[in-house]
Amino acid sequence: MPFFEPLEKLNPKHVNLERARKSLREELEAIDFYQERIDATNDETLKKILAHNMNEEKEHTAMLIEWIRKNDPTQDKVFKEHD
Ligand SMILES: [Fe+2]
Repeated sequence: MPFFEPLEKLNPKHVNLERARKSLREELEAIDFYQERIDATNDETLKKILAHNMNEEKEHTAMLIEWIRKNDPTQDKVFKEHD
């Protein structure tokens, strides 16, 4: 998905944050795809491969969240302070 505003008008730091958030959305979507296929397949070997791959996507989401927290102080703050 492209950026909505001209790239030259955007703060490069914000552009990277948007890239990370887009990637995070894609990783979360991948987890849902894998989970559905794990639930649906009746092949136990395939189920195990898909579960392994799904768990790797969960690791990817953690890596992205961590990066976002390091680069977006407000996001980091709400992780620490939310109810
Ligand atoms: Fe991934």
